[in-house]
Amino acid sequence: MHYLSDDGAPLLVRYDIDRIRSVLARNDIGRRTHDMWMWKEFLPLAALTPRVTLGETFTPLIPVPMNHTGGAGDVYIKDEGRLPTGSFKARGLALAVSMARHFGITDLVLPTAGNAGAAAAAYGAAAGMQVHVFAPEDTPQNTIQETKFLGAHVRQVDGLIDRCGELARTAASDNGWHNLATLAEPYRLEGKKTMGLELALQFDWSLPDLIYYPTGGGTGFIGMWKAFQELLELGWIGDRLPRMISVQTHGCNPIKSAFDAGHRDVPEPFGPVTTIVPGVRVPKPLGGRLILSALRESNGHACAVSDEAVLGCHADLARHHGLHLCLEGAACLAAYRDDLAAGRVGKEETAVIFNTATGLKSLP
Ligand SMILES: Cc1ncc(COP(=O)(O)O)c(C=O)c1O
Repeated sequence: MHYLSDDGAPLLVRYDIDRIRSVLARNDIGRRTHDMWMWKEFLPLAALTPRVTLGETFTPLIPVPMNHTGGAGDVYIKDEGRLPTGSFKARGLALAVSMARHFGITDLVLPTAGNAGAAAAAYGAAAGMQVHVFAPEDTPQNTIQETKFLGAHVRQVDGLIDRCGELARTAASDNGWHNLATLAEPYRLEGKKTMGLELALQFDWSLPDLIYYPTGGGTGFIGMWKAFQELLELGWIGDRLPRMISVQTHGCNPIKSAFDAGHRDVPEPFGPVTTIVPGVRVPKPLGGRLILSALRESNGHACAVSDEAVLGCHADLARHHGLHLCLEGAACLAAYRDDLAAGRVGKEETAVIFNTATGLKSLP
């Protein structure tokens, strides 16, 4: 097992890209069953290692009606709510739990804003492991119920995710449990990376102009950027990469604040945290430096929207278009609308908006 570097920074998995090139042709990949395991050469599991899987399907790109976005280019929602336990967390946890089982781990522990805990509970149950979850007191109750129903031991904490992270670290070292916190081990990121690989295939190896992603710990953000670098090195995509746009809210935007101030990392925890959007309630992400460098390398930018704008987009898309997004997805659409109105992005640009969970996670 690998955890953090000696300096306490996240570790990233590196692949022998020349070897991938010698065993796999781009045209062959499309003929495989479309799921996250079709990318096996880009994942750390050895060929014969059994996977812990619950059906990690491809997720669709749903075109958003133009009269809603105000744009003229193609705008799509990538609906990650179709994955097991209804969120994109399934990708990271399917892989991380597969690796943990490979290494003989029996107990998992993690802090969560809700969805990662539910996914860990499901994959842990499938792998025959005990799962221990620390979640803030105000985590949506339906997700807490789901996590308990899947057999995990849940402790709700009077504090934010960073306090839950401290408790998870202590529990891991006291009890010898495996800490699956965001970026504390390298494999969740590799699972989430498949979002970027999948987009490349869906766009026929020429990526969209803009990617809007709701950023908490930032695993998906960093993971997608890593996926694009691997595809670039392999020569499977041209060098026109998407602008990566990080979306947070006024009530918690450490990445936007650090980006706008020109910092290389998030200098201090954001506070006070007031937003109602659970996935972005991370005051100081461990991967701040990696998120900020992906933003800059991609020529992207960071947004913050109000909770009111999120709720407005959430209700509007549901009532007028039948699209029930999670609040995090609605935040991304609100940010896209703001960017269009301010001229930060062009009307003709193709945009992908990440809806990271089913709307059922965000029932009022
Ligand atoms: C629905 C949802 N969207 C977005 C996020 C943020 O994800 P990441 O940690 O990849 O930034 C979370 C994390 O809790 C989430 O549950």
